[in-house]
Amino acid sequence: MSKVTVFDHPLIQHKLSYLRDKNTGSKLFRELISEIAMLMCYEATRDLPLEDVEIETPMQKMVAKKIKGRKLAFVPILRAGCGMLDAMLTMVPAAKVGHIGLYRDEVTHKPIEYYNKLPGDVEERDVFVLDPMLATGGSAVDAIEIIKRSNPRSIKFLCIIAAPEGIEVLSKAHPDVEIYCAAKDEKLNKNCYILPGLGDAGDRIYGTDVVGEVSIDKRGSTVRLHSNV
Ligand code: PRP
Ligand code: URA
Repeated sequence: MSKVTVFDHPLIQHKLSYLRDKNTGSKLFRELISEIAMLMCYEATRDLPLEDVEIETPMQKMVAKKIKGRKLAFVPILRAGCGMLDAMLTMVPAAKVGHIGLYRDEVTHKPIEYYNKLPGDVEERDVFVLDPMLATGGSAVDAIEIIKRSNPRSIKFLCIIAAPEGIEVLSKAHPDVEIYCAAKDEKLNKNCYILPGLGDAGDRIYGTDVVGEVSIDKRGSTVRLHSNV
């Protein structure tokens, strides 16, 4: 089974409460996803090896520490994983980026692949797969299968909210992949959404969060009345 780390840091837990709140709009939601991803990156890269390097301060020479030749790649699962990417790149600007496009079929809840572009030298890299939600685990399992075809050095999966069902499915399929999350929630609902969760992460990041009947509001803007969550 995979090693699972749930981040209980107070800053992450505090931000997560705002992220879950249904009254949090897209702008704040994006900012919170980014801030949480940055804190998670800090923790998930804790085991990167260091090496001694000689540098010179304005005062004298010294032996300092730098990260030892580890090359990283960040692979967000489209769309929602992109919400975590900029924060990761802020922390590790030299990382390369791959993208895997998957969406869940609304009826079967199985992932459907529509895009896949990885750095050419993935076999020299430690890969961090990014997706805020681990629900049934189908998307994570498929994304990691695609990445494994390119023989990366290692793979870690970073999500913000994980369902117990998703953790089980992912760790059975890929026991070598460490899972990091900010919360392990209760369960999935009948539509395979996480409870209590935060709703549909991609829709909340990009403001596409309500689907269904369309109406015109008082200012003449188009509004949609029902959500599929
Ligand atoms: C969401 C989420 C994950 C997936 C998780 O993406 O971002 O990729 O669902 O569900 P699973 O564990 O059951 O596979 P979605 O398919 O809604 O696509 P989107 O990011 O484009 O909105
Ligand atoms: N995808 C989401 O965005 N949210 C869920 O709760 C489940 C899958």
